[in-house]
Amino acid sequence: MTVKEALLARRSMRAFKSQPVERDKLRAILEAALRTPSWANSQPWQIVVAEGQALERVRAGYAKCYADGVPASPEVPRPDKWPEACKERQRGLRPKMVQDCGDAADQFGALNQRMFDAPCVIFLCMDEMLGHWSLYDIGAFSQSVMLAAVEQGLGTIPAITLVSYPEVLRRELPIPAGAKIVIGIAIGYVDEGNAINNFRSERTPLDEIAVFCS
Ligand SMILES: Cc1cc2nc3c(=O)[nH]c(=O)nc-3n(C[C@H](O)[C@H](O)[C@H](O)COP(=O)(O)O)c2cc1C
Repeated sequence: MTVKEALLARRSMRAFKSQPVERDKLRAILEAALRTPSWANSQPWQIVVAEGQALERVRAGYAKCYADGVPASPEVPRPDKWPEACKERQRGLRPKMVQDCGDAADQFGALNQRMFDAPCVIFLCMDEMLGHWSLYDIGAFSQSVMLAAVEQGLGTIPAITLVSYPEVLRRELPIPAGAKIVIGIAIGYVDEGNAINNFRSERTPLDEIAVFCS
């Protein structure tokens, strides 16, 4: 598989089979992702891989929070403002999902709340004193994980909803002391039978967002 093939094949999957991910595959993915560049090789990522009973306890904790109407409180806050161009693209997401997935698009919220039924979630954390540039590094690390997963025949989704309730994550998982929980990446074998995975997001054409100067 070429890098380009992996880039084109990766897309966010929102329904997974319960089949566990082999530990050697997870290790291979994370070992490869460790080659991600970072500011002065600071390697800010701290990784917590949740599977099995530990992940089920998190899922149950989240279900209770949702049922009780607890507001989500990710440790990297959601932006409260977006430029109009970004808002326009965000508005396009739902109609395209309905077009691609039909009624299955209605499962979007429930699947998010169930952590996409994934058998494994990789939580990426970083020391709470770190700032923008380390977030940049964590983003790059995330893409490395997701591309390496494609090569292993696994689907992924990075999702803010996976880190909605840090207090549940801290209660059930060994989140490092002094670390901020940045993002979760659900990973697993894709449930091809769920039409929500038919979604193919669009991209703004290159010539609308890039200028070449010489
Ligand atoms: C930082 C980040 C947070 C995201 N959070 C969510 C989320 O909470 N729920 C969700 O369904 N998708 C989430 N996504 C997936 C995006 O919706 C998806 O990447 C985008 O629509 C482009 O689609 P693609 O990943 O299939 O190419 C997130 C993606 C990123 C990078």
